[in-house]
Amino acid sequence: MKKICLILIMASVKVCFGQLPLYKQKAASVEARVKDLVGRMTLEEKILQLNQYTLGENTNKNNIGDETKVLPPGIGSLIFFSADPVQRNLVQKKAMEQSRLGIPILFGFDVIHGFRTVYPISLAQACSWNPALVTENCSVAAKEAVLSGIDWTFSPMIDVARDPRWGRVSEGYGEDPYANAIFGVATVKGYQGNNLSNPYSIAACLKHYVGYGMSEGGRDYRYSDVSAQSLWETYLPPYEACIKAGAATVMSAFNDISGVPASANHYTLTDILKKRWGHDGFVISDWDAIEQLIYQGVAKDKKEAGLKAFLSGVEMDMRDNIYFENFKQLIAEKKIPVSLVDESVARVLRVKFRLGLFDEPYTTIMPEKDRYLQPESKALAAKLAEESVVLLKNKKNTLPLAGSIKSIAVIGPMAKDTNNLLGSWSFNGRPADVESIYKGLENEFANKLQLNYAKGSGFEGTDESGFAEAVSIANQSDVILLCLGEMKTWSGESASRSSIALPSIQEKLLVELKKTGKPIVLVLSNGRPLELARVEPLADAIVELWQPGVAGGTPLAGILSGRVNPSGKLPITFPLTTGQIPTYYNMRQSARPFDKMGDYQDIATEPLYWFGHGLSYTSFEYGTPKLSAQKINKSQELTVEVTVKNTGGVKGKEAVLWYVSDPAASISRPVKELKFFEKKEIGAGASAVFTFTINPMRDLSFPDATGKRILESGDFYVQVGNQKIKFELVD
Ligand code: NOJ
Repeated sequence: MKKICLILIMASVKVCFGQLPLYKQKAASVEARVKDLVGRMTLEEKILQLNQYTLGENTNKNNIGDETKVLPPGIGSLIFFSADPVQRNLVQKKAMEQSRLGIPILFGFDVIHGFRTVYPISLAQACSWNPALVTENCSVAAKEAVLSGIDWTFSPMIDVARDPRWGRVSEGYGEDPYANAIFGVATVKGYQGNNLSNPYSIAACLKHYVGYGMSEGGRDYRYSDVSAQSLWETYLPPYEACIKAGAATVMSAFNDISGVPASANHYTLTDILKKRWGHDGFVISDWDAIEQLIYQGVAKDKKEAGLKAFLSGVEMDMRDNIYFENFKQLIAEKKIPVSLVDESVARVLRVKFRLGLFDEPYTTIMPEKDRYLQPESKALAAKLAEESVVLLKNKKNTLPLAGSIKSIAVIGPMAKDTNNLLGSWSFNGRPADVESIYKGLENEFANKLQLNYAKGSGFEGTDESGFAEAVSIANQSDVILLCLGEMKTWSGESASRSSIALPSIQEKLLVELKKTGKPIVLVLSNGRPLELARVEPLADAIVELWQPGVAGGTPLAGILSGRVNPSGKLPITFPLTTGQIPTYYNMRQSARPFDKMGDYQDIATEPLYWFGHGLSYTSFEYGTPKLSAQKINKSQELTVEVTVKNTGGVKGKEAVLWYVSDPAASISRPVKELKFFEKKEIGAGASAVFTFTINPMRDLSFPDATGKRILESGDFYVQVGNQKIKFELVD
């Protein structure tokens, strides 16, 4: 009986399937659906899928776009600026019902560090050395984005960046390729979940492919001279890792890679990304990047720009309408083969099918109060902010604030600010949602000590009229908490600075306060490393808060009071002065590394704070690392263990960073390279064992200028804490 029922059900499903075209059948495979749909499409329909227009208002002054009034229902994608799910559903309805084949639109948006629950900027996230926590925050961002009508985010940015004058250092994970790879993968996992078709998954877009972080002189949109060696060794590895982790899409960059712009670069877009790494999603150009090929000097007009970008491997045109306007003619002239159009459309549709858009094209409408800023989401943002804070300096244990302190002079333009703590790329963040530093202090210290406030100065300008009040409240207080930093518009896209020092008005305020003789705790909120050469000697303690998003006040106050032990470490070096740029830990060895040869004559050559710097309220003692063998062959693994003891009086989290170095190879190697890290909490007086398993091919090989990995036998070092141990690799 059961068997008969089953046969009947199967038969009715078949009948039902029979009525639907294959691409509309949920149970069919993605590939079968894609093939079926492409086979039914006209040329016009295909071309539309390769274009992205904008919808809603764009408030980013660098990307002012016209609101798209008349949208073709068959358009491939929209950048969805309004974040209104009702509007999305209306537009989607038009696509589903008015386009001939009912192909859903893919709604994309820049969800960079949170949607409405804005969490710390990416550079700060990397200070946490806690990728699992980053993944959790990214899934919150994904859920809030989905509920706002968004399917796809233009994130993560995994451009290794070593010039803090470039405003976009704030958007990535610092100067190291491995750190960018790990945090990039953590972010992709958070957005995409374990399956793109999950209700709260969004598609990730790796950007800006590739070499954009090499921006010459820190200027944006400029030439970047990337050698083939550094392309393979520095800029490509994060992309390769994220592609392996299943990132759905990639964005081609604005920069010119040694003469061949990133958005017309067949080698990077097709040979490497698609052929070598097997990426089967699609590439979208950055905003107007196709038209910009004209300004970059490789195309005489829009038509040629479109042709070059497309033949190089850019499947979707972001906003500049060049594909839409020129492809019919280019195909008729046989400059673009129809087979390439079909393959490109298939790539776009594959992502739409994987997201489940054909089966669930509409957004579930929830009341705004249930969509955003849920208590558990804010708690996660606060946790990430807490772990992102870096204690840069703590002379004579100025922090945590001692019980004898009865009053704090809270001074500075950042103290009560809420807008700038959001950081760049926080379109849906609202200052009203943000907990200021002052508010955090009030919560932490209510009824325990007196807070005296004066703004002191603005972020920039020459107005010193607030200095006197600041000095006066400082004189009446036990300690000064000076809150300085950068406005949020000073970093991010098109936000380059020729000097990374704080504006002189802020430095002057510090100088005035120093005259009071009171201890000074400096809190910094900024989107890049700062030049602290003149500032550092005047401060007793320095706390790097970065731009924490909605929940920075309480985490910071917890660190000041000692309720929280800081555990952040820098993913990017702080040069002493702007003139030291570029300075990064994994440089190659000097040819004369002795007697200070080649050093600067006028300033120190060492940066102020190296990559990996970050203090704690406790002390960690690293034991002697133990190797599982002194010698291994190329197919063996080597295990290194180190015991870390918390020798101080409070529990704390320690991020252990493992490096390797190869002192003699056929291509010179950086002085050391990060290969693994792990963070653990260790109780006061307790110890924890940290283990790094070295896989020779993964950790000891290096690419040549064609990307071929070379593994050479010889001596290597593994480094942890300040210890360096030698081992040998044999054939
Ligand atoms: C230009 C930026 O470079 C890119 O990062 C961003 O995703 C797009 N505009 C879309 O807003």
